Amino acid sequence: MSILAGRNYVVTGGARGIGLAFCQAIVNAGGKVGILDILSEPHPDCRKLEEAGRAHYFEEHLLNVLSGKQYKRLVATLMGAGIGTDIPFVNITWSDFERVVAVNQTGTFFAVQLAVKQIMSQPYDGKTGRGSVVMVASASASGSCPGHSLTAYGGTKGFVKSFTLQLGHELANVGIRVNSISPGYIETDLNLNLAKSRPAVKHYFDHAPPMQRIGQTTDLTGGLIYLLSDASAYVTGIDLPIDGGMSTGNGLTS
Ligand SMILES: NC(=O)c1ccc[n+]([C@@H]2O[C@H](COP(=O)([O-])OP(=O)(O)OC[C@H]3O[C@@H](n4cnc5c(N)ncnc54)[C@H](O)[C@@H]3O)[C@@H](O)[C@H]2O)c1
Repeated sequence: MSILAGRNYVVTGGARGIGLAFCQAIVNAGGKVGILDILSEPHPDCRKLEEAGRAHYFEEHLLNVLSGKQYKRLVATLMGAGIGTDIPFVNITWSDFERVVAVNQTGTFFAVQLAVKQIMSQPYDGKTGRGSVVMVASASASGSCPGHSLTAYGGTKGFVKSFTLQLGHELANVGIRVNSISPGYIETDLNLNLAKSRPAVKHYFDHAPPMQRIGQTTDLTGGLIYLLSDASAYVTGIDLPIDGGMSTGNGLTS
């Protein structure tokens, strides 16, 4: 499949987990990727994409999204960088809250602004799709997540969801589409580490989704390629839940 051939992408938070799966899916669909992440040691699969000449890894904060010349003729950007907080509401401190807002909310907002400025500065024929932004929200933006305390995290993802809608509207007439994906529980390092320190949450990962399984990163990539490609040329401002049915309610029986 080369549905994204000849197109350049930026993925924040692409050193591992969902962001890395997004990079692999883009490369498999024929695109090239600039990967930004703060990790000094990205997952080996990230380096494999570089070795194949399909990606460049930059160890940078997501706000440096467009600092390199490599991003000339950018057509899309993906905001995968994010951090979690799973702390009971009454225990959250000002600094816990500021930390998660700084990355998930403020960081996402201004990184998208940089990417959109870059896309708008490039020549445009006025006909074909000019750009596509996909942000990663979360099932916690729209529903509760049993076993977790996500007031701060879910609040930042609610921001991402409504930011997507507002920006999708604002940019609709300049040819840049803006959409988000809301994953449910996905088996990434973030959640595997959490399950190690709090084994009880494994039960929720496996049974809160009505489909009765935790999601894999590959469950997200079909929706991603749809939103990036011309298959979704008439779609903007939406949030696509990919959550094993969690948006219909949770599947726990006990
Ligand atoms: N795993 C899930 O179940 C799940 C569910 C819903 C939403 N999400 C969202 O998906 C995204 C990816 O989650 P994941 O599970 O792959 O997490 P992860 O922790 O495995 O990956 C997140 C990546 O973002 C990077 N990052 C963090 N802060 C950054 C910054 N300031 N600049 C650049 N990179 C930064 C991290 O280094 C990491 O590589 C996040 O936005 C997360 O909130 C995850």
